[in-house]
Amino acid sequence: MYSKIIGVGHYVPENVVTNHDLMKFVDTSDEWIQERTGIKERRWFNPEKDTVANMATRATQLALTRAGIAANQIELIVFATITPDYFFPGSGVLLQRELGLAGIPALDIRNACSGFIYGLSTADAYIRAGIHKTVLVVGAEIQSSALDKTTAGRSTNVIFADGAGAAILQATDKEPGVLTTHLHADGNYAEELYVKDPGSSRKIRLSKDIVENDSFKVYMNGNGVFKHAVVRFEEVINEALAATGKSTEDIDLFIPHQANLRISQFVQRKLNLPDSKVFNNIMHYGNTTAASIPIAMSEAWEQGKLNPGDLLCIAAFGSGYTWASALINW
Ligand code: UT7
Repeated sequence: MYSKIIGVGHYVPENVVTNHDLMKFVDTSDEWIQERTGIKERRWFNPEKDTVANMATRATQLALTRAGIAANQIELIVFATITPDYFFPGSGVLLQRELGLAGIPALDIRNACSGFIYGLSTADAYIRAGIHKTVLVVGAEIQSSALDKTTAGRSTNVIFADGAGAAILQATDKEPGVLTTHLHADGNYAEELYVKDPGSSRKIRLSKDIVENDSFKVYMNGNGVFKHAVVRFEEVINEALAATGKSTEDIDLFIPHQANLRISQFVQRKLNLPDSKVFNNIMHYGNTTAASIPIAMSEAWEQGKLNPGDLLCIAAFGSGYTWASALINW
């Protein structure tokens, strides 16, 4: 038994925030942001309308339509997010409720930028083990409410953004779709990119100190993350190629986690891939953490860049540190 992706979908908030919009409250420039990150604009949620769960629902509905199946065929939900709507329960059960699927299991994954691939790997394992036939994997995030939107936060507020993407995996006994997945983590770097509070191991979980010290906002050692990312991306992609006996020439489309265009281009050069084989949309959406890969997969499919039989390579690196890759026969 193998798993195959039968539908992908995405949803991004309507609210577009351009680099020029950011310049109204942050000492930065359109030139700096584009040159250092590739980003021109991103979406930030509308608190009146968007939640992590309802964005995920919209992405899922599109994926279901494209897959040509009804929601009630889904047997398991795997929800990757580090920005759940509640401290607990996780967003998986909220999505399950919105889809009208009370009773089926909902699993939450908190592996940041690698979260979607961790989720894909989990779904693939359940299907291969014969436990479930149809599994929904979602990545959805609202990062903008945890950003320091002043100049002090300019290494994160220009990058991170909101959105949701979904993929539906189904069992097949014919050709495998998901060929291989590779997951890694190194907790020695946990505090290089993190949101510290409200943490549970504090004497008081919510205090004035937390607000005064800004410890509830995203902290990132951008340089450190960048340097590790470029090494781990290449390493984990080569691991996937070696596991399947494939080479970089066999890749039809590479979708890197959309962290920074310079990271994607660095990895592209290392793999010697032409522009036509790499899909980036960070210019329009910024870095949406666990949502970035499924949003990009959905857009690549819409644009006719993912066709039956194509070999898709996805890879990610981020907070944890965690990093991961997958090779998928589309
Ligand atoms: O999603 C997975 C995890 N995240 C990532 O993979 C992101 C990895 N890191 C990065 O993308 C980059 O490190 C950043 C985009 C965050 C920063 O780019 P950088 O080229 O590493 O810049 P830097 O932090 O070394 O800063 C260079 C200069 C500094 O000024 P000085 O000290 O040279 O005078 C910063 O203060 O750029 C300044 N700077 C900015 N200037 C204008 C930093 N952020 C900004 C900004 N606008 N937004």
